[in-house]
Amino acid sequence: MPIEQPFTFILFGGTGDLAIRKLIPALYNLYVEQSMEVPFSVIGISRKPMTHEQYGAFFIEGIKKYSRNEYEQALYQKMAKSFYYISGDLQKDSTYHHLINILNQTESGQKNRLFYLATAPEFFPIVVENLTRHGILQKGAVSPWHRVVIEKPFGSDLASARILNHRLERLVDDFQMYRIDHYLGKEAVQNFMVLRFANGIFEPLWNNHHIDHIQITVAETVGVGNRGRYYEQAGATKDMLQNHILQLLSLIAMEPSVDFDAQSISTEKVKVLRALRLFEENAVVRGQYEGYRNEKDVSGDSKVETFIAAKLEIHNWRWAGVPVYVRTGKHLKEKKTEVVIQFKKTPYNLYRHTNTDANRLVIAIDPKTGFDLQFNIKEPSRGNVKIKSVKMNFCHECEFGENTPEAYERLLLDAVTGCWVRRQPGKGFIGAGRSSITLQWNKIF
Ligand code: BG6
Repeated sequence: MPIEQPFTFILFGGTGDLAIRKLIPALYNLYVEQSMEVPFSVIGISRKPMTHEQYGAFFIEGIKKYSRNEYEQALYQKMAKSFYYISGDLQKDSTYHHLINILNQTESGQKNRLFYLATAPEFFPIVVENLTRHGILQKGAVSPWHRVVIEKPFGSDLASARILNHRLERLVDDFQMYRIDHYLGKEAVQNFMVLRFANGIFEPLWNNHHIDHIQITVAETVGVGNRGRYYEQAGATKDMLQNHILQLLSLIAMEPSVDFDAQSISTEKVKVLRALRLFEENAVVRGQYEGYRNEKDVSGDSKVETFIAAKLEIHNWRWAGVPVYVRTGKHLKEKKTEVVIQFKKTPYNLYRHTNTDANRLVIAIDPKTGFDLQFNIKEPSRGNVKIKSVKMNFCHECEFGENTPEAYERLLLDAVTGCWVRRQPGKGFIGAGRSSITLQWNKIF
């Protein structure tokens, strides 16, 4: 879906980790692959003192280090004609006056604005309040459109999430708010629903009659790096489990939705989350990697977990009795994100002299993407039947080549094209669009 209207991308936290590693490369890739042919401006905002030119250099560094498409100077220069930087305190009026000045210089015609909050979470309401107070962000703005993108952590517990939500909903309409989870933009994750609902063979087996257990693993080799201050508040539970892992889990376990729009999918996912319990008391393990307490901005006696594993159960007819093992951690031996669907053993082993493995479907998300279906075959032999476990494999890269768009490219494209905002005569705004799956929010409270 190409972008058809000019817009300004206003990036709060413009010099942060998320900006350099993910957002800047995503913008560049969208530009290189011609999804952004309309004029657009970028305004980075952060505390760091920097000139517009230095911000340009920061952008180039991000592209060179992290983009899947190589940096090309001529292309970049064409793209970066309207890039600006504001060094300012997000609590001060002067920062917003400065922003208004730059917007007055750059915007002509449609004043569409995407505000991306790549800041520490405590700034979410502060920024949105300031933007609306200064008239930069308008509640209900559709044409031109004004949208706000927010990532986790959305509050630190149920009460604070509710408060934050109420504060934000007074300032902007729900359809203007994009509460995103980048895991939903991953190619492999977008394939979950296709695997389940565009094929006839899996769904009849997708229940407690045939599935022994499910495993969801998100293992990382990296530590907390320079995000110690944030991580001390979050830990693995709030950083990875309550968001990314539960998104994966709800897509794997949900009932087929009545339609492919944000609302229908979210309705089904919420049912799974409502039914989720610990499998048994104390079925949780927390751990911390060695050396975590010596990381920058981490307390010397920190008890924050960098690893968490839990045994869960979904209390409904489809899943009762099926353990769901989830685990995630930093500084582990290998980077691996995958979901394993372990099927039950055959009810009776005809080949008593040998062991047969139960079937298993491995859905690989990162770093490899694809599916492995493990099943048993006969090994060539003259004597007793020998059984071997082999794999039927779908390898994403082998089928579609390398250089698949990254999650943030999809998320940004969806936010700019506003696939979730479609007006239907007489019906107001409805969720719709090709990839509305990336933009849904599971409103559980
Ligand atoms: C982020 C977490 O949401 O996801 C990081 O804050 C984590 O701590 C990252 O490293 C993992 O994302 P991915 O796409 O590399 O699996």
